[in-house]
Amino acid sequence: MARHLITSALPYINGIKHLGNMVGSMLPADVYSRYLRQRGHEVLYICATDEHGTPAELAAKEQGVPVDAFCTEAHHQQKAIYDGFSLAFDYFGRSSSPQNHEITQEIARELKANGFIEERAIRQVYSNADGRFLPDRYIIGTCPHCGYDKARGDQCENCTRVLDPTDLIDARSAISGSSDLEVRETKHLFLLQSALAGEVEAWVDERADNWPVLASSIARKWLTEGLHDRAITRDLDWGVPVPADTWPDLAAAGKVFYVWFDAPIEYIGATKEWADQDPENRDWRSWWWKSDANVQYTQFMGKDNVPFHSVMFPATLLGTRAPWKKVDVIKAFNWLNYYGGKFSTSQRRGVFTHDALDILPADYWRYFMMANAPESDDSSFTWEHFTATVNKDLADTLGNFVNRVLSFSKKRFGEEVPAGSEPGEAETKLGEEITRLLAEYESQMEAIQFRKAAAALRALWSAGNSYLEEKAPWLEIKTNPEGAALTLRTAMNLIHLYAVVSEPFIPTSAKKMREAFSLENDTAAWVTQEEARSLTAVPAGTPFTIPPVLFAKLTDEDLESYKERFGGESAA
Ligand code: MF3
Ligand code: ZN
Repeated sequence: MARHLITSALPYINGIKHLGNMVGSMLPADVYSRYLRQRGHEVLYICATDEHGTPAELAAKEQGVPVDAFCTEAHHQQKAIYDGFSLAFDYFGRSSSPQNHEITQEIARELKANGFIEERAIRQVYSNADGRFLPDRYIIGTCPHCGYDKARGDQCENCTRVLDPTDLIDARSAISGSSDLEVRETKHLFLLQSALAGEVEAWVDERADNWPVLASSIARKWLTEGLHDRAITRDLDWGVPVPADTWPDLAAAGKVFYVWFDAPIEYIGATKEWADQDPENRDWRSWWWKSDANVQYTQFMGKDNVPFHSVMFPATLLGTRAPWKKVDVIKAFNWLNYYGGKFSTSQRRGVFTHDALDILPADYWRYFMMANAPESDDSSFTWEHFTATVNKDLADTLGNFVNRVLSFSKKRFGEEVPAGSEPGEAETKLGEEITRLLAEYESQMEAIQFRKAAAALRALWSAGNSYLEEKAPWLEIKTNPEGAALTLRTAMNLIHLYAVVSEPFIPTSAKKMREAFSLENDTAAWVTQEEARSLTAVPAGTPFTIPPVLFAKLTDEDLESYKERFGGESAA
């Protein structure tokens, strides 16, 4: 029994997420959390919407609503979709919460007290028409290198050269289009990461060897490039204000913290939001404060987020000199592509989470995504691969097994699990096979290797099919009804075992499978090695019902209609 704190990268508030976002953060965190809960661990899975920053401000503006109202609406919209995907967060918070404001400001004060935050004056572009400073990427103009006329102030999309906004020819505001811009001097807070570099490096060295390799290699690469001081404030209306008690001038000038400063702190903020809902029984500090020895903390994220989580957020926490819990294991993911090209929110290319749920239940997506998780490399979504996987693994191997066994048994032996003869050689062999595969499945889950775990799960399902083919109870029944009854009882025990061990991946279907049997006090507690070997957890005489078809087989017409609706070709 251990205490596991689990977080997944916080989805940006603006825009509905696509499957590529989901597979690299929330979904694997949910699968892992569910597994650990079933194993009897105490688990706290925390996520939230990442609500600050310019994109949220602009999206709200475009819709003509106040930014806080925009975020409230978008938060609920995202939460409803995640419920639809059966993501069992212990809490899904909001980075704009008062709790996050308070903790972010507190951490900033501590960093200043320890000499790790400094005020510096920088020169920045101010738009008179917009009445605000513009972030680099909200200044557009003509690229001095290639002449592209929509180059952004941070980078030219056309020739990919990195730019400074003052390089642009005919610079104008991306917000209003106004070219009435000037360069003004303004003060910002800087986090002195260079002063923390040695400590961060030692911290990474101490633990990154235990991380799956993608995260540790990115962290090391980032450290080699050096840790630079970084501006952690912005000129925006929407964000965590710089605390007036500590920086009166900057607070009066309306500075807020940069979104990447307050977003990871929301992991702590959301835990406090969770605790504040039931303060008698929940203690957020027990997860985050002086908890190094008794909490195992695992983070899930796409590879682009690794530098922030492996280096910058640890630097922030280390610089407070306070006993904040820091991550133990970072699990990162490569990209999921759509027909070899990128999923794109701006171009609406690929499959978005609300559309996915519109066409098929969550379990289909959960299984497919995790079985093909982009762990060691980028992986590609195609409708051909998706429908083939659903048909083969879910409909044929698992769903059909469940239905065949229960229907046949009901027809021949009625609505209770039959007794049959004593287990023989085939059952001993099966028990050994199941025990071995279960151990493999467990060890892959513990190593947070989802593709391999899914392969072991699939092998468990296949082992049942092989057993059934070998024993062929539909023939056996003619000559040896007691033997056929044994086969069916054993197969029904497999169904129950599948229900338990498949739950992390396909929770809704797993529940239906488990509920086919009227067992008393059937919690989804894990299967012991002994139960896996003997396959007798569901005793003879247990009443059962036949669940409706678990997974519909997808037809060629389905495939065509998906490709038609979502576009099924490679990117140009
Ligand atoms: N919103 C960011 C993204 O989608 C992730 C933020 S993770 C956090 O890339 F830790 F900073 F919150
Ligand atoms: Zn260019």
